[in-house]
Formats: sequence, structure tokens, C-alpha cells
Amino acid sequence: MAAGALLPARRAWSSTLDGIRHARATLDTDDERFWQIVRAQFHLAPGTAYLNTAGLGASPFAVTNMVKAMMDREEAAPAPGHNEEDWSRIRAKCAAFLGPGCGADEIALVSTATEGINIILNGLGLVRQDEVITSTHEHVALCIPLLHKMKTAGIELRTFEPDLKHAQGNVDRIAALVTSRTRLVFLSHVTCTTGQVLPVADIARLVAQRRILFALDGAQSLGQFAIDIKASGADFYTASGHKWLMGPKRTGILYVRKDRLDTLTPTVVGAYSDQANSLADRRLELRPNAQRFEYGTQNGALVYGLEAAADFVSTIGLDAVWKHNQALATACVDGLRTIAGAELLSPDDAPSR
Ligand SMILES: Cc1ncc(COP(=O)(O)O)c(C=O)c1O
Repeated sequence: MAAGALLPARRAWSSTLDGIRHARATLDTDDERFWQIVRAQFHLAPGTAYLNTAGLGASPFAVTNMVKAMMDREEAAPAPGHNEEDWSRIRAKCAAFLGPGCGADEIALVSTATEGINIILNGLGLVRQDEVITSTHEHVALCIPLLHKMKTAGIELRTFEPDLKHAQGNVDRIAALVTSRTRLVFLSHVTCTTGQVLPVADIARLVAQRRILFALDGAQSLGQFAIDIKASGADFYTASGHKWLMGPKRTGILYVRKDRLDTLTPTVVGAYSDQANSLADRRLELRPNAQRFEYGTQNGALVYGLEAAADFVSTIGLDAVWKHNQALATACVDGLRTIAGAELLSPDDAPSR
């Protein structure tokens, strides 16, 4: 694909980023004017306070411009396949959100967190009476695949109610559920019910000692704060691109720790999952990285849109996003406390909030 073909879309994309770059260079991110410039990058009607990013992120112009331009470019000259160089760069940008040491080869581009969850659960070869520990605050994106596995493979589910007051209480509750048949602990990184950040590194330490696998549903963490996936101790992590990262709808990532690649058998494979195949020789070599979980034709416009989203959030700065979100949350909590009879369910201690 000619590099020049990318230019029109790139131009639209970079002009909105240039505005943010300029704002970053000239304004402090504590300055409300900085956030007004960010706010102007969205389609949302002026004066609208959009409060449902945990449900569905509003995409900025940088993302929608990119998706539209790439879709037009695709239809001007439809061609199967994708540019592997671009895909590698985009996976690397996604990996950067998972912190130091996360390699692009540990990332697969998937359609949703739900797809990532299913790849993990189906790939582990769970059998009758294998036990999976999860919390009672999981999204249906995890509950339904778990229940389906229970019905189809006969696994046992063991659940705990998250401790909203003491982070260590969650580790203790999981420890109390572990048996010799526990194969997997699968939890939200941040729960969608109360916004609780679970103490994942402590949980990982507990389960690693017992050789239990640890998977995270990161739908509520990717793009909201800096993640150190290596320090988290997770073997697998999956997230949506269309929530806090504000990418196009139906984008997501799956992280498979390099040394866990062969622990997870891909259940859906096809074109692009392999590095070599020959029906005549009865030979198949899957890619030696997480790309083996990608398959078939992708919607390239969405993938480029995901890149634009990653660039958008990185240009603002993940630390600035987190600090600003925390300030907004604090203002909200302080306001709620003034309402007689209102009970705050979300955790109050800073690391869990
Ligand atoms: C914790 C959590 N997991 C998974 C999902 C579903 O994400 P997706 O639509 O990308 O499958 C959501 C959506 O709200 C969620 O909050």
C-alpha cells in the first residue's frame, strides 16, 4: 500500500492533535482552559456533561475523522489483507498503554473485551470440576461466558463479594475459595458496579504461589490510568477500545503474557493466525505471538481509528487524564456527601477508587 494514500486521513487526524499538543505546551493540565480545549474535540453538544464513559466512550473528532477517511480510502480501492507494518505499529501503541515491558507481540487486536474473555476462557481447556474464582460484581461480558462454560464444560464457579472497605479483604476472600481444583481467577481490573480498583498485584501473588492462572477484564482500566501489566502479575488481560480509550465501537485488545502463549489454545483461527500452512503437507505453524488469536478480514478503518484514539489519549497524557478524572470523582463524592441519606457505595480509599 502506498504510504501517500494515508496522507489525507493523517492530516485530518493530526490537526486535532496539534491543538492538544499546543495546549499541552502552553497550559498546565490543572488549568480548566486545557480541558476546555480537550472538550472541544468531541461531537457532544456544548453544555452536555457526558457521564457514561464507563458504558461507551464518546469518540473525539480525531477518531471519527480517521475512521471515515480510512473507510473512504478502502472503498476507493478495495483490497484484501492489511498493512502488517501499520498493524505492528498499532499493536505497539496499544502495548504502551500496558506499561513497560509489554511487547507488541503480546497484543492481539480483537473486537471487544467480550471476545477477549471468550478467547481466554475457551482456550484454557477447562474441564469438568475445574474451578474458576470470580467476583459477584462482574459484568455480564464475563458472567455469561463463565455460566456458559459451567453448562457446557461442567466447570465450577466460586464467587466472592468484593470487600469495598479493605483492599486486603479481597485477597483474603479469594484465598478462602482456593482449592486444589482451582485453575483460574478471572476478575475485573476495575469493577463496573462501584468503580473499585481491585488489588491485582496482591491477588496475583496469592494465586501464582498456587500455580493458578490469573486473567483480568480491563474494560474499565484501559485508557483510564497507567497500567503496569507486568507488575500486575496477570497472565491474560483484555479490554475494550471503545470505553476510556474512546476508540471506535467494536475495538479491543487481548494481552497474552509471552510465556503463557502455549497455555492458551486459539479456538478461532484463520487467515493471519499462521506463519505457515500447507494442507498438502498437513502442516500448520501458528504465529509465535499473540497475533495467532487474530483471524480473517478486519475492519481496517476501526483499527486505524483505535490508533488515533491511542494517540489522542497519549497526547493529552494518561497521568493528566487520571488526575483530572480523580478530581471530578472527588467533586462528585463531596457533593453526594452533602445529600442527607445518600450512601456512598464506591470505595473511599485512594488506591481502590
Ligand atoms: C467490566 C466490563 N467488562 C466488559 C464489558 C463489555 O465490553 P465489550 O462491549 O467491549 O465487550 C464492560 C462494558 O461495560 C464492562 O464494564
